[in-house]
Amino acid sequence: MNRYQRLYVYMLIGFVIWFLIFISQILYFSTFSTPDYCWFSSCKKKFPLSKISKQRHRIINSYEKSILARIHHQPLLQRYESSHVNFVRLTKPRTSPKKYLIYTCNQPCGGWGDRTRKIVGAYLLSLVLNRTFLINITWPCPITHLLEPNFINWNQTIKHLSKLKNTTIYNLSASDNDYREVMSWTDIDVIFFKVKDLAYYSLLLWRDDFYRILHIHYGLHRSTLFIHTVFTLVYELLFKLKSHPQSHIDELSEKIHLRHLSCAHIRIGKNPTNPNDVVFPKRERMNTTVIGFLKNISKSNELIFISTDSEEIQSYARKQLRSRLLNIDGVIRHIDRSGKKLACDGLEKTILDFYMISRCHTMVMSKSAFSFWANTRRLKPYENLYIYCDGIKQIRGPGDYDRYPYGRFSSISCYKCLSINGSNPSCEDLFQGDVANKPSFLQAPCLTHLRGRAGLFPATHCIKLVAYTKAPKPIQYMYRTCGRDEANDNGIAHSSHCGFVKLDWLEKNEQFRVYSF
Ligand SMILES: *[C@@H]1O[C@H](CO)[C@@H](O)[C@H](O)[C@H]1NC(C)=O
Ligand SMILES: *[C@@H]1O[C@H](CO)[C@@H](O)[C@H](O)[C@H]1NC(C)=O
Ligand SMILES: *[C@@H]1O[C@H](CO)[C@@H](O)[C@H](O)[C@H]1NC(C)=O
Ligand SMILES: *[C@@H]1O[C@H](CO)[C@@H](O)[C@H](O)[C@H]1NC(C)=O
Ligand SMILES: *[C@@H]1O[C@H](CO)[C@@H](O)[C@H](O)[C@H]1NC(C)=O
Ligand SMILES: *[C@@H]1O[C@H](CO)[C@@H](O)[C@H](O)[C@H]1NC(C)=O
Ligand SMILES: *[C@@H]1O[C@H](CO)[C@@H](O)[C@H](O)[C@H]1NC(C)=O
Ligand SMILES: *[C@@H]1O[C@H](CO)[C@@H](O)[C@H](O)[C@H]1NC(C)=O
Repeated sequence: MNRYQRLYVYMLIGFVIWFLIFISQILYFSTFSTPDYCWFSSCKKKFPLSKISKQRHRIINSYEKSILARIHHQPLLQRYESSHVNFVRLTKPRTSPKKYLIYTCNQPCGGWGDRTRKIVGAYLLSLVLNRTFLINITWPCPITHLLEPNFINWNQTIKHLSKLKNTTIYNLSASDNDYREVMSWTDIDVIFFKVKDLAYYSLLLWRDDFYRILHIHYGLHRSTLFIHTVFTLVYELLFKLKSHPQSHIDELSEKIHLRHLSCAHIRIGKNPTNPNDVVFPKRERMNTTVIGFLKNISKSNELIFISTDSEEIQSYARKQLRSRLLNIDGVIRHIDRSGKKLACDGLEKTILDFYMISRCHTMVMSKSAFSFWANTRRLKPYENLYIYCDGIKQIRGPGDYDRYPYGRFSSISCYKCLSINGSNPSCEDLFQGDVANKPSFLQAPCLTHLRGRAGLFPATHCIKLVAYTKAPKPIQYMYRTCGRDEANDNGIAHSSHCGFVKLDWLEKNEQFRVYSF
């Protein structure tokens, strides 16, 4: 062997030795079960090596990987990847055993837009309280034949439910009192959550102990936690269309394929299709204006989708747009303001419309919670976005919504009257409007009180309320008046109530079952 050959052999041996040391190091450190910062023997004793924990470690890793991969393939979730959200924790939250928070809707509890935002709020509250989150919507019929859990298992059944201590929560605000109430729930196993608004939501953002859990354990920074921002994240983690409705959407998507889709949600309120709905002011010309606008801004080969609460508008759109109109068959009914049977028929179309809107390239909204939350699920919510507010206005960012409230500076007119057990026949149904030779009930402008604030405020919408007292021989109150849209989150959702409500302006100490709005 000459010098070079010898050098070569030494190098080879050196490499082999280095390689053996390298491999043994890897083997050595990988035997630590839990933290990789266990360098000292005292620490190692705390985390004894065991095959079980090693296996669990590996399973969690592949479980995490598959979750993250699935999330990466859902465009609506993908956009949250950059904001440090802890997806793995969110999909498998830490929960105390046998503690549940069940979002419950077994009587009218709002339209689909309104409901889903309340579900999102309830889910975040369940995280803070370390409770397993479940959804039980049976009004107008179960949603489980249309939607199923996506990442979060909200449809489990509870064993021995009747043996567990339960309570039903109807109202919750962000006051100190209500915060103390929330903290006193610790010994209650099951919370049936029927809260009618998001008045408590600021607890999640501004109570240190609550916010810290959401931030540290779930990676939800305050900037992500505002309901507008977090809505899509939580909605997508919770819900997935079942295969039957999904295939319907897929069929329609095939038609869209690379073509531009312009959409509108035309919600006009009370009309022959939805006779029990609220009368919205200034929407009389919405039908022709919005459809005309869509025709104007789209090219003749582009598709148009219309979601509406009126069959008249649907058939008008079909006449105007013909084959360009993308159609979802089904019954048009407000899911909360129709009889149970009709509302149930309307549920499928309502939910399909909601999903369809997320595919739109251009969107014309109504001032409605459904429009708002459906639009939030578009990939670029503020691209080509318009709102109908006594004319069509462009929306370029979140701040623009506040520029187009109804009657913030002026007020609408409403009928104002009260009939107790039929005492005032002219206030009862069928309401005849103003009749000659009778006193007028029309108030213009109609002013209204706001809870917890002095003075009168201009109204934003008219209310017809039929309520019954809880007494065995119930008294019927028929009340027509005006109300003001003062939701604390986006100001566009209409308040809706479920269960018994207090109507301070009627009778301070009486609870009522609200029959219809
Ligand atoms: C939830 O768990 C966290 C972390 O263990 C704890 O700090 C918090 O007090 C718990 N909250 C409730 C309401 O049990
Ligand atoms: C959902 O609520 C209905 C009644 O409102 C009840 O009969 C049913 O058992 C509940 N389902 C679950 C899974 O809790
Ligand atoms: C919950 O939904 C999943 C997915 O659709 C389904 O496989 C499971 O059977 C459901 N569980 C219950 C208790 O309904
Ligand atoms: C809730 O608890 C009460 C007793 O406090 C019980 O009568 C009732 O059946 C429970 N409700 C459910 C749905 O388990
Ligand atoms: C919430 O409901 C309870 C009764 O269930 C009632 O005592 C309380 O006054 C209500 N709070 C508000 C703010 O309406
Ligand atoms: C549009 O709505 C108004 C008010 O409801 C109605 O009078 C009109 O006939 C509707 N136009 C069409 C084309 O349906
Ligand atoms: C459509 O465009 C025409 C011509 O540019 C215009 O006169 C009309 O007002 C537009 N209609 C709507 C509803 O925007
Ligand atoms: C109200 O009317 C109902 C049904 O008409 C009746 O049963 C009830 O006794 C009445 N209540 C009062 C206080 O008159």
